[in-house]
Amino acid sequence: MIVNTELENKGNLFPANIIDFKKDVDKLYFTAANDVILELTVVRDSLLRFRYTTVGNFNNDFSYAITKYASIGYNKLEIEDRKEYYEITTSKLRCEISKDDMRVSIYDAKDGVLINQDEGGFHWEESYQYGGNIVKMSKTSNDGESYYGLGDKPNHLNLKGKRYSNWATDSYAYGKDTDPLYKAIPFYTGLHHGKAYGIFFDNTFMSSFDFAQERRNVTSFWAQGGEMNYYFFYGPKMNDVVESYTDLTGKPHHLPPLWALGFHQCKWSYYPESKVKEITSTFRKLQIPCDAIYLDIDYMEGFRCFTWNKEYFPDPKRMVKELLDDGFKTVAIIDPGIKIDKEYSVFKEALEKDYFCKRADGDYMKGKVWPGECYFPDYTNPEVRDWWSGLFKELIEDIGVKGVWNDMNEPAVMEVPNKTFPDDVRHDYDGNPCSHRKAHNIYGMQMARATYQGLKKYSYPKRPFVITRSAYSGTQRYTSTWTGDNVATWEHLWIANMQSQRMAMSGFSFVGSDIGGFAEQPQGELFTRWIQLGIFHPFFRVHSSGDHGDQEPWAFDEDVTDIVRKFIEIRYQLLPYLYTAFWNYVDHGTPLLKSLVLYDQEDVQTHYRTDEFIFGEQILACPILEPNAKGRRMYVPKGKWYNFWTDEIVKGGKEMWVDADIDSMPIFVKEGAIIPKYPIQQYVGEKEITEITLDVYYKEGKEKSELFSDANDGFDYTKGRYSLRNFSLNGKSNELIINQYKEGKFVTPYETFNIKFHGLPFDVVEVQLDNEKLELESIKVNGVTSIVVHKNFSELHIIGTKSDL
Ligand code: GLC
Repeated sequence: MIVNTELENKGNLFPANIIDFKKDVDKLYFTAANDVILELTVVRDSLLRFRYTTVGNFNNDFSYAITKYASIGYNKLEIEDRKEYYEITTSKLRCEISKDDMRVSIYDAKDGVLINQDEGGFHWEESYQYGGNIVKMSKTSNDGESYYGLGDKPNHLNLKGKRYSNWATDSYAYGKDTDPLYKAIPFYTGLHHGKAYGIFFDNTFMSSFDFAQERRNVTSFWAQGGEMNYYFFYGPKMNDVVESYTDLTGKPHHLPPLWALGFHQCKWSYYPESKVKEITSTFRKLQIPCDAIYLDIDYMEGFRCFTWNKEYFPDPKRMVKELLDDGFKTVAIIDPGIKIDKEYSVFKEALEKDYFCKRADGDYMKGKVWPGECYFPDYTNPEVRDWWSGLFKELIEDIGVKGVWNDMNEPAVMEVPNKTFPDDVRHDYDGNPCSHRKAHNIYGMQMARATYQGLKKYSYPKRPFVITRSAYSGTQRYTSTWTGDNVATWEHLWIANMQSQRMAMSGFSFVGSDIGGFAEQPQGELFTRWIQLGIFHPFFRVHSSGDHGDQEPWAFDEDVTDIVRKFIEIRYQLLPYLYTAFWNYVDHGTPLLKSLVLYDQEDVQTHYRTDEFIFGEQILACPILEPNAKGRRMYVPKGKWYNFWTDEIVKGGKEMWVDADIDSMPIFVKEGAIIPKYPIQQYVGEKEITEITLDVYYKEGKEKSELFSDANDGFDYTKGRYSLRNFSLNGKSNELIINQYKEGKFVTPYETFNIKFHGLPFDVVEVQLDNEKLELESIKVNGVTSIVVHKNFSELHIIGTKSDL
């Protein structure tokens, strides 16, 4: 007879003492007396993986996050069996595993400094409801230690004292304290003693992170199921941590087409065709540069994906072509919910092929989204992804749409309290069948991946362009992203800045917000300030919901239109600079936006800064985040910086007031920088670019800059047909030398550089180009010292006398 129906709550369980150790090439296995095994993989000298099981054996090792292109291999691996611990040493790290309780301590191999240490270390709680464990890890947190990362969390950059969860959620009109949001990126960087390390908890179940909130000296993370499986990266530079994480979870598979870095105009929704044309022709009439126009859900027939409403868009192919002839690329939305409709071919096919997600007991997963009741493809099945990618043939190849926007892919379900699928829904998970508890956070990623595969196929030989709302770690390989349904408030402008910086330090740099706010309507001033921030966001799009009025650059007053135009023009001028930074992101994983802490972690002043950031490598920007401002106080990082507008030189390392009336914002250029600029175009490719301007900012000392160019689309650059120009600047009190070293086989359409000098402390008396003296006539135009030279120069030598002599 059963008398006690209460489950025994065992609480937290911990590994017992280690009784066995085994080594298998790069994997080390430590077995505890109570069946816990720690599998430690030495991935690289500065990258260790820790994986635990409590049952004596591991499940199949499978991850959507880790790319097959990740760099692996180490230079050194030594293992010592010490009295109280095992000691693992690589060229960068020394790691101790305590024999008593399996706790881990990690030190810098060179100077012996303790970088990170288990507090309780790995522990778990049995999950009576679902089986398996709630897996947990706790680490010591030190006073003065800071934490950054975690994807799209909307609050202060420094996560210290906060607790967050990762569960992709449709979060209409979220706020600063809303959690979780659309993305699940369980990766953070810790910074202590000037040394940065990273932790990526590769577990797709709902996970949580507590950064010394619950207990002042403990940082912990846990998940509702799956394995304790985390990667530990060592910098000591934060930039190296972010690059290593990005290398492991994947850099974008290729560059975006250059037009995708232009300005995009969106609305829910522009229809019918005449409205779309009215918008695009107004851009041209008002000479406001724009490259992409978006079609939100109303272009479809009853919100059925891959269909067109023929009343609004009688001939999409013709329209898309006409838009393209005017320089506009069309981007169309595609959601995951497929309308239940026996007459609808996509639905019929998926049903026949058994591609829809099912509940545990075999019924289809039915949920309401825009089209009404829908079923949802199981994108975690490779066959379904293949099928899905094939659906884009008509849209891309025949009709000529250039980009696809994946939305509602958390997945979002309307009119249910949890806003998504129930836990029991089944997924293939690439041959590792599981419930929605495990697949939820990667559902959107796999949808975007399948979309990307389709676009890659049908856009070829051009590059695909995809946008997604939901994402898990690694999604940056396939797509760009935006921060979801924000609101037209000043606080949301601040949030947009936080989220974009945070995404960049979480490996996902191709990011932007709905400029002006999605919900509600901005005043002209807020819209203007948001555009000013937006020109520095890799994904640069205005979007808003239809029921809150117009949000085009001309929807306010003429002053707004003029200022907005001016800033969008700056973005278009900076395209070669941004493209070069993007190339560095694709090539090395270098984040496109660098929060000040990422830029200069040695300066503790940067650890709690939020607003200022570096765009690319050498431009410092700081948005104005309040109404009626004539400027603001901001922290300028160490070094010397040129005010972008006035060329005034400021010495950083301190907070200062910077004037910035509504037609301006604080922008600075690092001294010594060489900033490449295009002429203003109304869209990418409007003009044949025959000359690039190089803005040279004099520095006494040395600085390196780069310029990457290629065909701006296509894949030839992957076969060496790119041009990478490395510039090194060396300034002395009365001379300036610029050397150029060129790599790559691409012949650029531009032939010359128009070099403009800023801040030269001397009058130029002689110019030598590749050791030949130049005529000096044309060196000063309108008070600016500038000179036009052939693009392939090797050395430019500017000689001056000190003007005060
Ligand atoms: C969601 C998206 C938004 C889109 C709308 C209609 O709210 O986040 O961007 O406009 O759906 O498709």
